[in-house]
Amino acid sequence: MTSAMSLKLRKETYFLILLVGVIVTGSNICTSQGVATCQQCLAVHPTCAWCSQEEFGMGGSTASRCDLKQNLLNGGCSSASVEFPSSTLTIQENKPLSAKASGAADDVTQLRPQKLSITLRPGDAKRFSVSVKQVEDYPVDLYYLMDLSYSMKDDLARLRTLGNELATTMGKKTSKLRMGFGAFVDKTTSPYMYTYPPEAVENPCVQIGDTCLAQFGFKNVLSLTEKVARFTEEVGKQQVSRNRDAPEGGFDAVMQAVVCKEKIGWRADASHLLVFTTDAKTHIALDGRIAGIVQPNDGLCHLDNDNVYNKSTVLDYPSLALMTDKMSENNINLIFAVTSYVEPLYKAYSQLIPGTTVGTLSDDSGNVIQLIKEAYEKIRSKIELELLEVPEELSLSFNATCLNDEVIPGVKHCSGLKIGDTVSFSVEVQLRACPKEKNRTFTIKPRGFKDSLEVTVDFACSCDCEAKAVANSSICSGGNGTYECGVCQCHQGRLGPRCECSVEDYSPTDNVNCIEKPGGPLCSGRGDCLCGQCSCHANEFGEVWGKYCQCDDFNCLRFKGALCSDNGKCRCGKCHCDSNWKGPNCNCSTITDTCTSSIGMLCSGRGYCECGICHCTEPGAYGATCEKCPTCPDSCTIKRKCVECKHFKRGQYIKDNTCSAVCKDEIKVVNELVFHDKNARNCSYKDENDCIVPFQYYEDNSGSSILFVVKEPECPQGPDILVVLLAVAGAILLLGLVGLLIWKLLVTIHDRREFAKFEEERAKAKWDTGNNPLYKGATSTFTNVAYRGN
Ligand SMILES: *[C@@H]1O[C@H](CO)[C@@H](O)[C@H](O)[C@H]1NC(C)=O
Ligand SMILES: *[C@@H]1O[C@H](CO)[C@@H](O)[C@H](O)[C@H]1NC(C)=O
Ligand SMILES: *[C@@H]1O[C@H](CO)[C@@H](O)[C@H](O)[C@H]1NC(C)=O
Ligand SMILES: *[C@@H]1O[C@H](CO)[C@@H](O)[C@H](O)[C@H]1NC(C)=O
Ligand SMILES: *[C@@H]1O[C@H](CO)[C@@H](O)[C@H](O)[C@H]1NC(C)=O
Ligand SMILES: *[C@@H]1O[C@H](CO)[C@@H](O)[C@H](O)[C@H]1NC(C)=O
Ligand SMILES: *[C@@H]1O[C@H](CO)[C@@H](O)[C@H](O)[C@H]1NC(C)=O
Repeated sequence: MTSAMSLKLRKETYFLILLVGVIVTGSNICTSQGVATCQQCLAVHPTCAWCSQEEFGMGGSTASRCDLKQNLLNGGCSSASVEFPSSTLTIQENKPLSAKASGAADDVTQLRPQKLSITLRPGDAKRFSVSVKQVEDYPVDLYYLMDLSYSMKDDLARLRTLGNELATTMGKKTSKLRMGFGAFVDKTTSPYMYTYPPEAVENPCVQIGDTCLAQFGFKNVLSLTEKVARFTEEVGKQQVSRNRDAPEGGFDAVMQAVVCKEKIGWRADASHLLVFTTDAKTHIALDGRIAGIVQPNDGLCHLDNDNVYNKSTVLDYPSLALMTDKMSENNINLIFAVTSYVEPLYKAYSQLIPGTTVGTLSDDSGNVIQLIKEAYEKIRSKIELELLEVPEELSLSFNATCLNDEVIPGVKHCSGLKIGDTVSFSVEVQLRACPKEKNRTFTIKPRGFKDSLEVTVDFACSCDCEAKAVANSSICSGGNGTYECGVCQCHQGRLGPRCECSVEDYSPTDNVNCIEKPGGPLCSGRGDCLCGQCSCHANEFGEVWGKYCQCDDFNCLRFKGALCSDNGKCRCGKCHCDSNWKGPNCNCSTITDTCTSSIGMLCSGRGYCECGICHCTEPGAYGATCEKCPTCPDSCTIKRKCVECKHFKRGQYIKDNTCSAVCKDEIKVVNELVFHDKNARNCSYKDENDCIVPFQYYEDNSGSSILFVVKEPECPQGPDILVVLLAVAGAILLLGLVGLLIWKLLVTIHDRREFAKFEEERAKAKWDTGNNPLYKGATSTFTNVAYRGN
């Protein structure tokens, strides 16, 4: 054997030994963590199992009780002793979606499934799908909440004339309409109310020489009723009142209208529209202090027998958070119908209260019907899932499949829907840590729907064998510990697998077992070496663990003070990030949703997305998704494709079937472009038919983009055949004529010349026929003999 060959052989042998070594010791995520109890084992990884068999691993072998299930079985653990709870998902109620809201409303199902039960191991995830459908002809409850302060006098007059029309318009949307009416002014106490002169309490308009109603907080004038004629009748009876300060107490009224379910008469199975009309600002929580009202709003119904809010002067105005909560609880869709003067303010409120819409009311409320109709369509065109009471240990992620089977990752809403459309959401539930309870229930529901999905999660955090634990068991050195799941949990001062060692039996030679690396500190300096084992010190931040006390779950990278950015689990000094997060400190989101601009492109195509944040590279681009870039040349180019696919239903996006994913814009067809905003951009392009299509790209403050497209693009006029023919014929004729004339001219000139020459020649001839010298007269005379002259 040559030395080279032997070297090669030796190398291979080493490799084999190494390989065998890895297989035998079987180091994997379960065994490498040095866990001591069954519960800890389950928390390491969803693949880890625990062997609770008494004799397991006792025969001197180094097998760990926490290992992959197969390794445990191979290692001699009986399958009955393997603790390996697995994650499961059971659908408990799955009624099909209704086609139409016919018959009794209780039977209408707009969401499926309705009930789920999930068992989850820590770190594990389960996925399920939720379908939602906007059922046709769904009942509608419309409660009209009106500001009756003095400035609304003309609005009230106008509303009197509109009642029937409103009912007819909404009646077209649903055959099961109910309408109600409520009015508000403000809290009936100074400084909101006129208290001087004393007559002003009864007639606040006395100073301006008018009469009006005494001020009131909120009154429910007409509970929801099918008899929509009653609406007109009751509105006709209303009169305005007058209060002192500019902001009104509308939010008090909203709260009462939302929570007084019985008094207002909200049906359980109906869309609930609460229309809030005002022309003024509103008081908000804590404003009550100027009248000495400090008791926070309790979010309960306080309508008395006269249908008047009688805690008006006792409770403060409600906070936005409380309103949001109560609206979600009662499935109320709030529509702010406000005059343009206060619109920006209510838009800002709307951003803070999910599920609200804002419409601009004309000065006399004349457009309120159109406004309600549009708001209702907007509400019905959007489905957004909301989550109620999700335990913080669970993390949920969503993918939406809205229209055309396109999957939109990371979102839980769909818009641009029509009644009757079905959308679905894929939901993934992950258990990040073990809560104290054994199970919890949470709810997923589309905002404003009564339908909901109830999900019960059982946390598979503990082992069955824990129930069979024996305290002071004889197995643990005659009662020095608790025998649980195959191992002894020793009492204070006892150590060892069977609690056989006592702290008193100290021997310095044992210390070598407590040192991780030669020369290192005993038990990493965070514990005592007892009987050759580390007993780790308790720490106020959390448990210290590991064979050498080298691990803890509180020393990980932090970001902005949060351990693992609150997006992961800290284990033995390292962050284990939740799904959708990465990075050493888990602060980097892998979801690109926040980078997707309203036009559906990552960072509007002007930068790159890193950790869910756009870095704009195009000069001049800025904004969260680089969407703002007045100097960029391409915003028209980008939007033009959306006009093509959304409006004309053609172009590249239609071919790729990505239109509704990419183009979130609303298309509005107009006769001609007008000025909307200085940020609106006028664009135009030439389409495949050479027509010039002008459009305007406008993004409002809330970020929703509107494309105004001109109804009729300017197409080039085709040439007129007759004109062309005539023109060509005329041209030929003209050319011919000119040619002929020129020829004639030339010929004439030539002729003239020739004639002149001839004349000249003739003049030169010196003789004349009379005296030609060669001329001889005729001299011979012949006589005809045959002639007989008589
Ligand atoms: C308000 O009305 C309720 C129901 O009628 C009544 O029980 C309560 O005493 C009233 N409170 C006040 C302060 O009038
Ligand atoms: C959403 O889609 C992405 C890929 O498009 C996938 O990785 C993820 O697991 C999906 N999430 C859910 C909850 O379906
Ligand atoms: C949830 O756990 C409690 C005990 O913590 C138990 O009584 C209840 O039956 C469990 N519910 C479900 C649905 O498993
Ligand atoms: C176990 O022993 C301890 C004393 O070592 C005693 O206080 C405790 O009550 C015992 N528990 C049981 C269940 O016998
Ligand atoms: C603990 O073990 C020692 C020795 O094995 C024994 O003498 C003692 O009684 C045990 N203590 C208890 C509380 O059982
Ligand atoms: C994440 O943390 C690192 C280190 O602290 C920091 O440099 C980086 O900017 C953070 N990233 C994000 C997206 O916040
Ligand atoms: C867009 O065009 C319309 C009509 O020509 C004009 O009124 C408007 O001011 C233009 N807008 C901008 C931002 O140039």
